[in-house]
Amino acid sequence: MIKATSQFIIAVVIILNSTALLAQHNTAALIPMPNKIEQKDSGKPFKIDKAAIIKCDTPDSIFIKNLIKQTIKNRTGILLPEKESGREITIIHTPTTHNNESYTLDINHKQIKIEGGQAGIFYAVQTLDQILLGDKRNTEKGLISPIHIEDQPRYNRRAVMLDPSRHFLPLEDVKFFIDQMAKFKYNVLQLHLTDDQGWRIEIKSHPKLTQTGAFRNKKGGNNGPDNGFYTQEQMKELIQYASERYIEIVPELDIPGHSVAILAAYPQLGCSFRQSEEKNLGSTTNMMLCASCNDVYTVYEDIIREVASIFPSKYIHLGGDEAAVKANWAKCDDCLATMHKAGYNEPSQLMNIFFGKMLDIVKRNKKEAILWCELDNIWPPANDYLFPYPTDVTLVTWRNGLTPKCIELTRKHGNNLIMAPGEYTYLDYPQWKNDLPEYNNWGMPVTTLETCYKFDPGYGLSPEESSHITGVMATLWAEAIKDINRVNYMFFPRGLAIAEAAWSTMEQRSWESFKERLQPNLSDLMKCGVSYRVPFEIYERK
Ligand code: ACM
Ligand code: ZN
Repeated sequence: MIKATSQFIIAVVIILNSTALLAQHNTAALIPMPNKIEQKDSGKPFKIDKAAIIKCDTPDSIFIKNLIKQTIKNRTGILLPEKESGREITIIHTPTTHNNESYTLDINHKQIKIEGGQAGIFYAVQTLDQILLGDKRNTEKGLISPIHIEDQPRYNRRAVMLDPSRHFLPLEDVKFFIDQMAKFKYNVLQLHLTDDQGWRIEIKSHPKLTQTGAFRNKKGGNNGPDNGFYTQEQMKELIQYASERYIEIVPELDIPGHSVAILAAYPQLGCSFRQSEEKNLGSTTNMMLCASCNDVYTVYEDIIREVASIFPSKYIHLGGDEAAVKANWAKCDDCLATMHKAGYNEPSQLMNIFFGKMLDIVKRNKKEAILWCELDNIWPPANDYLFPYPTDVTLVTWRNGLTPKCIELTRKHGNNLIMAPGEYTYLDYPQWKNDLPEYNNWGMPVTTLETCYKFDPGYGLSPEESSHITGVMATLWAEAIKDINRVNYMFFPRGLAIAEAAWSTMEQRSWESFKERLQPNLSDLMKCGVSYRVPFEIYERK
């Protein structure tokens, strides 16, 4: 720990020095890189002073006006006055824009003009904030040099997955994380709310889920006591907080594997031969919900109904990953009887029955399901003609090595796909060899900042071959991520590389430029109290 701290101090000094030497200009801190920029080098700058006013016609004009005032005050120290006339910062809501997230930002000496959809206007303010951050010399004088930006995201869904199931994250910590996500134009937060190690959302019709499932075993050790859950009221507060920052929260309830927390509360929902086994909420085990137990479906009918009523997102993620079919359904008399009755010869084919029923529940609640994409014996085998997933399910590719196959099969079969390939977006993997080995859970591969930056969510494919890719997701599995400081350490700065992969087209992206643009953002994150990892490897000794 002492070693880590002294490295950290040295790195701070390096960063502060190198920031001072770096070019300061109006694109020096833009992350993600906007998709079209016109520099107007010869033009005069806009002067922010007491003669500048904000005119805003958006539906949330009070919020946007305050956001701009706050942004300008933070960066320049100038508090814009409440006046009727002067140099204008004009915000025009254009609801007909084809993409609610697109915006234009035009700065000249007479005015700053922002036009866009509601989310786009919010993003324009984030871009303006980064212009002020990057162009310190001008900003300190209250000047903003002219620029014209036309911007829209490459992908509509730009997600991060947090895992409060493994280590609970208090509400205020999640809010802090949301604040950081918004700066880099992420728009989806997936919460992995249930797993072997914890059930973290209140379900009023089944209170034992949290009474038992939200309280880890008291034995301590690496996976030690770790308690807590979100009440429905707290979750609604969080959803509101996120939506004000244009972030949608998607709930994940992982089934039929990763389900020890519910089995600890209701052992009768497991295959009967395993019901008397001890349920240890401290570790990942291979127990599953029984595919042949009617109560499983009636309990999940209640759970999904309540979850659907809390979360306005049209999506519910139902897991479907790493189910230990051989250790459960293949040994269960009831499941084998159901398999034979259905004319199946593989226990994994029971996924058709299990998810057939669960997806019906999701539909009855007017939601759409997302599942992790499995292509091996966990689900029935997948090939060009046989793909076990219904087409109205969005899949997430994640397993190392399987993404090209996932892209191809989902395209052929008509499923939307979210890109979370382990090689690039699994941010629980260490960032450098031997970096904090005590937090390296199972010898996971090193995923450097540069590796994350190399991520092309389109995998180099043509628009036709990749048009079903709707988004990108960074994941922070939290078996070894104990608190928000550790979340931030694992996410930053790699999460900025992935933010750019999700927003900016490949033509706008460059690793050399990203390394430069990272510097002012790192200094700023530090000021905000974000415990990022210093990427020592990108600094060259001169
Ligand atoms: C996963 O990483 N088990 C989706
Ligand atoms: Zn069973």
